[in-house]
Amino acid sequence: MTDDDVELEARLAEQESFDPPASFVDQANVTDEAIYDEFSENWPECWTRAADLLSWDSEYSTVLDDSDEPFYEWFADGDLNAAYNCVDRHVEDGNKNRVAIKWEGEHGNTRTYTYQDLYREVNEFAATLQELGVKENDVVTMYMPMIPELPIAMLACARIGAPHSVVFAGFSADALATRMNSADSEYLITADGYYRRGDALDHFQKAQEGLDNVEHDVAASVVVDRLGDDGFGHELSETQYDWDSLMDAHRGDRVAPVERNAEDMLFLMYTSGTTGEPKGVKHTTGGYLAYTAWTAQSVLDLEPGDTYWCSADIGWITGHSYIVYGPLALGTTTVMYEGTPDYPERDRLWDIIEKYAVDVFYTAPTAIRAFMKWGTEYPDSHDLSSLRLLGTVGEPINPRAWKWYYTHIGHESCPIVDTWWQTETGGMMVTTLPGIGTMKPGSAGPPSPGIDATIVDTAGEDVDAGRAGYLTVNKPWPGMLRTLYQNDERFIDEYWEEYSDPDTDEWVYFPEDGAKIDDDGYMTILGRVDDVLNVSGHRLGTMEIESAIVGVNGVAEAAVVGGDHDLKGEAVYAYVITEDGYAEDEDLRESIIKGVEDGIGPIARPEQVIFTEELPKTRSGKIMRRLLEEIANGEELGDTTTLRNPEIVDEIEAKVSGD
Ligand code: WT7
Repeated sequence: MTDDDVELEARLAEQESFDPPASFVDQANVTDEAIYDEFSENWPECWTRAADLLSWDSEYSTVLDDSDEPFYEWFADGDLNAAYNCVDRHVEDGNKNRVAIKWEGEHGNTRTYTYQDLYREVNEFAATLQELGVKENDVVTMYMPMIPELPIAMLACARIGAPHSVVFAGFSADALATRMNSADSEYLITADGYYRRGDALDHFQKAQEGLDNVEHDVAASVVVDRLGDDGFGHELSETQYDWDSLMDAHRGDRVAPVERNAEDMLFLMYTSGTTGEPKGVKHTTGGYLAYTAWTAQSVLDLEPGDTYWCSADIGWITGHSYIVYGPLALGTTTVMYEGTPDYPERDRLWDIIEKYAVDVFYTAPTAIRAFMKWGTEYPDSHDLSSLRLLGTVGEPINPRAWKWYYTHIGHESCPIVDTWWQTETGGMMVTTLPGIGTMKPGSAGPPSPGIDATIVDTAGEDVDAGRAGYLTVNKPWPGMLRTLYQNDERFIDEYWEEYSDPDTDEWVYFPEDGAKIDDDGYMTILGRVDDVLNVSGHRLGTMEIESAIVGVNGVAEAAVVGGDHDLKGEAVYAYVITEDGYAEDEDLRESIIKGVEDGIGPIARPEQVIFTEELPKTRSGKIMRRLLEEIANGEELGDTTTLRNPEIVDEIEAKVSGD
């Protein structure tokens, strides 16, 4: 760091609030504070403002149907097609030559799709899907790396009304099989592989292992040839087809977009919950698309002429909402990058921003912490002056990381939006609006216009400013999940049971996050209050990891908790009891790590595996996870008097600290 940097950081360290620069406000999409009142006074009709961003085949007559709470319906009797909205209408509006997708492969090779190109490819793949037998409402699974064929396949599904279920490519074969089984999905789109830090990875092998564990017949799989000569030479079976050959047979084909009811499912996205079974979050065509378009416009400030980059993977909700649907609905240019931020060098992201003159950049705090660790020379060696706005999502951002991002990436001239939301909410819920709100590093900001969120205690009463409580949402919103796939009961149990009052018919959504509120209504999100970990901004259920560990030969019992981690935010700590006759040795440790990688994926890999004779349990037999967390974090231990086996605590502690 130079002396100037040191001086700058010293100055900013004390500063607790930042106003958006005038240069940003002058051009922002939303600049009038009255929007908050407009939405709350005119709720739920205010949401036509979001729906108006879309082109409807037939207009809806009611904004919100709440006759069967909490199964809300939005714009329910309207019809539209999501692919038409994200592609065709921009072509029809005279923007066929505007770039829709800028893709950069890890090797630096690039592909550019104009809206016309995207129109052509989406049609051709829609025709391909039809030829393979895909019908409206069939769930098509995608297990693909970050290549343009992924959004093309998603939009082709949307075009013919087949919901997609995208499984993150980093997830394991087992995770793929579980999701295909749960959704009864008979179609899979995948790829032979992709590049990571220069190496070609064999993805098809994993896909094949997943397919072997699908319980029903899989009608067809389509495999993109990403690796060419670097491929692994797998033979395709009779029901497995090469993407390019299929597409060649459909050159020039056009498929009319089907009219979908606003409430028809657009996609399923599986996410982790408290139990071992992932939850199939159902999102709809009208409400979800309206909500992502509206938040992309009001929060990310996107405009059609922008080049916008969200560095997430499309395999997560962030990529669905803010790489694909929101930006494309608005006719923006969206950037996609295949690889990692540190390949070939640690300046790769800044290089991409400079090269494409990115206007708006959206990333995760875990990435920012890595950039800070790597040092300022990497961003400093690039011209980042094209940037107008920065965003973060996925976990709380600490004020130091916020200020680093603000100074070294935004050069004090870009506002930052710290956006709180979830897979289930479809889009952003708590954040400042960049053209209006004062930013307070560490605090996400107020609930967005039309979002009625409060922070309450266990009894459901509002907490005082400065006190920690539970985040709740008291009114529905268009982007909300509609249910958990084929499991209405679990939907109610997971999200509505806790704070709703059946007597007064008051329905309150509980996202399972802790939070605090300031005098001015700004919310600071404290993190999950259920047994869900946030590892590098990815949500992982402790139960899922535990069941992967217990499946390993020689393991009798396991408890998984999150421990603090500088880069990852949280890291997985696994406390394991071996079966009689098995040694607590390196071999078993390795099998456990492999068990987790095979069961879930490398992202869930335990940071530490701690063998123990017993787990600390209460007299009623419940594992005291709080203690295991304190041990993982090297914190002072809280009350242990309710334990049945307090003596085990010192033993475990000694093992973790290495004493
Ligand atoms: C959980 C949702 C939303 C897309 C990425 C993750 C945490 C998310 C923030 C934020 C503090 C955040 C919450 C939430 N989270 N954004 N800005 N500040 N925490 O989606 O996998 O569904 O995880 O991520 O704990 O519940 P997800």
